[in-house]
Amino acid sequence: MQRILLAALLCLHIPAFAGGMGGKPLSPAAEVGKHLFFDKHLSGSGQMACSTCHDPNHAYGPPNDLPVQPGGPRLTDHGVRAVPSLRYQEFTPAYSDMLDNPDGISRPGPGGGLTLDGRAATLATQASIPLLAANEMANHDAADVVRKIEQSDYAALFRAAFGSDIFNSPPHAFAKAGEALQAFQMEDTSFHPFTSKYDRLASNKIGGTLTPEEQRGFAVFANPDKGNCFACHYNGPGLGGSSGLFTDFTYSAIGVPRNPEIPANEHKSYHDMGICSRVDHPLPDSAHYCGMFKTPSLRNVSTRRVFFHNGRFKTLHDVIRFYNTRDTNPELWYPVVHGVPQKFNDLPTQYHANIDTQMPLDGRARGSAPPMTEQEMEDLEAFLNTLTDEDQLQAAEERPATSLRTMRSVLCRLHPALPIALMLIHPLSDGLVFGLSVLVDRVDHVLQTVTSHDPIPIREGAPDSADSTSDTLTHSARRRDLDALVWCRFVEEG
Ligand code: HEC
Ligand code: HEC
Repeated sequence: MQRILLAALLCLHIPAFAGGMGGKPLSPAAEVGKHLFFDKHLSGSGQMACSTCHDPNHAYGPPNDLPVQPGGPRLTDHGVRAVPSLRYQEFTPAYSDMLDNPDGISRPGPGGGLTLDGRAATLATQASIPLLAANEMANHDAADVVRKIEQSDYAALFRAAFGSDIFNSPPHAFAKAGEALQAFQMEDTSFHPFTSKYDRLASNKIGGTLTPEEQRGFAVFANPDKGNCFACHYNGPGLGGSSGLFTDFTYSAIGVPRNPEIPANEHKSYHDMGICSRVDHPLPDSAHYCGMFKTPSLRNVSTRRVFFHNGRFKTLHDVIRFYNTRDTNPELWYPVVHGVPQKFNDLPTQYHANIDTQMPLDGRARGSAPPMTEQEMEDLEAFLNTLTDEDQLQAAEERPATSLRTMRSVLCRLHPALPIALMLIHPLSDGLVFGLSVLVDRVDHVLQTVTSHDPIPIREGAPDSADSTSDTLTHSARRRDLDALVWCRFVEEG
């Protein structure tokens, strides 16, 4: 029956709430914020809440490996950036071009702020961005959002928190909705549980003993001649009394390759350049900020299936290898044209001077030895796995077995209706899918390559060489593939 219900709901993804992990009761404002966060009616489509993209069962990050999420009034528009996790954001100071570095050594530089270019100063003001963005929650305006809140079943709570006449002033009520969302993210412990193995190590608690592999990985992380990860993903005492956030809130241009899976990138002239794409940091004055994005926290990073601002990478394994060999083997990461790897191909050439030169991205010569050995990279990944909060380890265990998900997604790619049809002829389907999934387990390594490695075939033409007609054809095919993929990903999650 559950399966049939699932099938009937089709691709609607309804996350279970991972909050309520103990701690103090929420304030009335935060209680309202919790309702707002999970309310799908607060969108033009009626199907999209904050939690659709920021799923509590995925550390408030994306529930799938799509580089950008579908949104808008019919869920057919796409965003331009990967969804960040909302955990551990509460210590983020407002953006400044000259933020003091929490390590007390580095010179002040661009840092702080919410979103990946820092354009929102507080969690409260940030909330208006997705609520009003045409390609996200797509409400007409602030009054539209307020009207929906006024008609909701938590309208009385809203009045109790913010005054009985609050709905008489829509701009005021809209600002309060932002404050409520901020209060929820600040107060609810599910946004900052600090329950990872690393936390047990840091606070000297039982269960905090690292394995030899994790210990070696921690050393690679902190070794300035190896990973040097801590230089930006700083784990020391941070701002506002924080500690171990695995970010110093600074911005760097690290030259992540362009991601052709993002629909916006169909236009060759389009470049997401981070800070200098902001309206308050216009060109040419802000040219030295082009390509810079915020250093994200690495907490819960191994629960992600999409990495960097443009979602170009799908596994932590690849991210680490990119850091290690971006300079020594650029041909592994960038398109090669006439034998020349197009390094930093997502940033116009005139801004390449902004690329950071800190280890391990120190610009060493192509063909020279990379900083980390294979073993060191494996150890580093093992250490990063210790940054996962306990509830996320549990959530991962409760998800359908990989084999079942793989099976569904393989069927889905054969024909999008197949998994649904199979679910409908329940219980026969269960037996069938189970039998097939056992088979899948056997040939797992073959199927893994089908599903986890770039399922969209992308023709990477030499820049400027493809004529525009074949380009348009590729793009519409790519868009169709992406739509099918969105559907299949939802089925996989079901
Ligand atoms: C369609 C998917 C989507 C929805 C829905 C969505 N977000 Fe986001 N969120 C994103 C993306 C993508 C970013 C990164 C945006 C950027 O850098 O410009 C982001 C960034 C954020 C950030 C900043 C995180 C950081 O690392 O600085 C916060 C806070 C946030 N969202 C809260 C919310 C809240 C609250 C809601 C509901 C009102 C919401 N989001 C709805 C996709 C979404
Ligand atoms: C020079 C500063 C710097 C150093 C050193 C650095 N990083 Fe990063 N890291 C960043 C920035 C900036 C981003 C975001 C870049 C983007 O999205 O374009 C990032 C993003 C990431 C991400 C993606 C996380 C997500 O949520 O998408 C991972 C994983 C990561 N770094 C791991 C590492 C590891 C492991 C090391 C050490 C080998 C390391 N970083 C060293 C600055 C740095």
